[in-house]
Amino acid sequence: MTSKRTRRSLAALAAAAGLAVGGSAVLASAAEQSAKQQKANASEITETTVDPAIWGKQFPAQYQTYLETTDQQRTRYGGSEALPRTPTEADPRSVVTQSKIDEDPRLKKIWNGYAFSVDFREERGHAYMLEDQTYTKRQQVVQQPGTCMNCHASVAVLYKQLGNGDATKGFEKLNQMTYQEARKLVTHPVACIDCHEPGSMKLRVTRIAFMEGMKALKASQGVKDYDVNRDASQKEMRAFVCGQCHDEYYFKGPEKRLVYPWAKGLQVEKIMEYYDEAGFKDWVHKDSGAPVLKAQHPEFELWNQGSHARAGVVCADCHMPDVKVGDETISDHWVRSPLLNVKAACLKCHKGTEQEMKDRAEAIQDKFFAMRNKALDATVALIEDIAAAKAAGKSDAELVAPRYLQRRAQFYFDFAEAENSTGFHAPQESTRIMGEAIDYARQGQLTLRDPRFKPTVKVVSISTAAPGAAAQPGQPPSGTAAQQPAQQQLTPLNPREPKR
Ligand code: HEC
Ligand code: HEC
Ligand code: HEC
Ligand code: HEC
Ligand code: HEC
Repeated sequence: MTSKRTRRSLAALAAAAGLAVGGSAVLASAAEQSAKQQKANASEITETTVDPAIWGKQFPAQYQTYLETTDQQRTRYGGSEALPRTPTEADPRSVVTQSKIDEDPRLKKIWNGYAFSVDFREERGHAYMLEDQTYTKRQQVVQQPGTCMNCHASVAVLYKQLGNGDATKGFEKLNQMTYQEARKLVTHPVACIDCHEPGSMKLRVTRIAFMEGMKALKASQGVKDYDVNRDASQKEMRAFVCGQCHDEYYFKGPEKRLVYPWAKGLQVEKIMEYYDEAGFKDWVHKDSGAPVLKAQHPEFELWNQGSHARAGVVCADCHMPDVKVGDETISDHWVRSPLLNVKAACLKCHKGTEQEMKDRAEAIQDKFFAMRNKALDATVALIEDIAAAKAAGKSDAELVAPRYLQRRAQFYFDFAEAENSTGFHAPQESTRIMGEAIDYARQGQLTLRDPRFKPTVKVVSISTAAPGAAAQPGQPPSGTAAQQPAQQQLTPLNPREPKR
């Protein structure tokens, strides 16, 4: 299989680069190893060393596992499948992942009029983040901003360079570039320097949007002037380094600032309230005319609502467990689905066999996925009903309530759907969110059928006017090809069994 081949070629690559690991046969914990390595000559790695290969000379085991993120292997709901494709000039990738919108065309329906209805794929390992972003068809139908780069490249050094030493100023400059301008300034996907302080190797957060998001969140809880790098515990940092990118976001204002909408809290209700108050929409739905939102990968937010988070179990515990490389015990930098590595990822804390733990995880996912399908059907049904009512002559005024209920149903559905653990990170919360989505969609249908029906939530009127210069993530500028979603432009993919 492709995955084995990739692994072999990586091993060859590592060997060619002189990255043989091992050495002393001391059995030490990752932390002890780290202390030992700190003493090693750190002079070569400075605050401007972006290239992970240079860090890799000093930390070969972490580097070797970091390189393994090129591997692709699928699980029941996660991982990814390596699909061969014929490279073109516009998109030189010879391997891509499965298309989520071809797998489930209902997604095209709910995102109609938005770039996600043109191309949206399963995510894969960190090694691919820059090229997958560069070549997604969402780049072809919309002029994307430099803001996209914050989570798809090593930008810790770039921020400072652009801001003449002031990372926040650099962040602001990056956001206001075009994607193409920003793309010329980066070379590496997320790299050592984005999560580690050179020398001490201490974990650190480099993403300004995360610092600002946490500051706003803590302020809402009465904590003043929170500084994540100063105030977070070591354990929290093992989640926060991931929370730098794995969360819901939007581009605020004409300056396209990357903002994590946490000023009221991390729960879906609070984020919905935030967007409603801001009057923010990602786009106007093509069939129904509703001012809707698209959520993306709120792993950090939903993990936070789960019992693992309550018990202090963080991202790195499951996604970067201790593993042995040669004689060394390290934190696995092969960040991937823990279900491909149950022994290291789960059995450290849980009794039982690998199979039992995998079964428990999949049982949670199966139940979640069944609810997800019902919520998606309900949302599609509401969209079709609003479109029919519109065609039958209902006025915009009459459609305010059903359209707002679509906005809610859709955002709730999408929040838990776009979260990539298929319900695992917070089983009850994710399934509850799908239940709420079903309720909003069905209430939307009731408002269409019976004008006396009173929705259980306050209807908020969101403008459906064109956003002008306001930056919306992936918002097709009016008058571009994206207004007529370009499904027909999709290159046919290899036929495959539906994943789900
Ligand atoms: C208790 C263990 C655990 C913790 C803690 C945890 N995850 Fe996960 N995560 C999982 C499992 C299990 C899956 C499902 C994988 C699958 O379906 O193959 C998953 C899936 C994912 C995926 C999708 C992976 C894929 O292969 O599709 C991402 C991304 C992810 N988690 C990120 C995070 C982030 C970020 C955090 C912290 C904010 C976190 N996880 C915390 C266990 C965990
Ligand atoms: C807040 C961080 C963040 C920002 C900003 C961001 N991304 Fe991502 N992106 C991620 C994460 C995390 C994943 C992996 C999880 C997933 O696919 O849901 C991802 C996955 C992707 C993928 C692979 C899966 C897919 O959607 O087909 C593409 C392509 C992509 N992003 C493009 C973009 C573009 C274009 C922009 C700018 C409009 C952007 N990203 C902005 C964090 C971000
Ligand atoms: C996405 C964030 C992230 C990136 C990128 C990253 N690391 Fe780490 N690294 C971690 C986390 C989390 C730990 C666990 C730290 C802890 O618990 O104190 C860690 C631990 C380490 C340690 C301490 C020993 C150990 O294994 O626990 C070393 C050394 C290290 N990383 C080297 C590297 C090198 C070299 C690179 C680049 C090739 C790199 N890291 C990239 C997050 C990252
Ligand atoms: C700089 C932003 C960034 C940081 C920091 C980051 N990720 Fe990611 N992550 C991404 C993007 C983007 C993708 C999708 C790449 C693609 O599809 O090409 C991704 C993909 C993943 C996947 C899917 C891997 C697979 O094989 O399917 C997992 C799991 C994951 N990340 C977990 C984590 C964890 C855990 C951390 C912290 C240790 C972390 N990420 C830190 C941006 C980031
Ligand atoms: C660092 C320790 C730790 C790791 C690693 C860990 N767990 Fe857990 N897990 C816990 C604790 C503690 C609880 C109990 C939380 C509570 O109910 O207070 C728990 C609860 C659970 C539950 C029941 C609660 C729920 O969320 O439904 C499941 C299922 C589970 N874990 C599966 C897994 C799987 C699968 C993995 C590996 C991907 C894993 N855990 C990794 C410590 C861990």
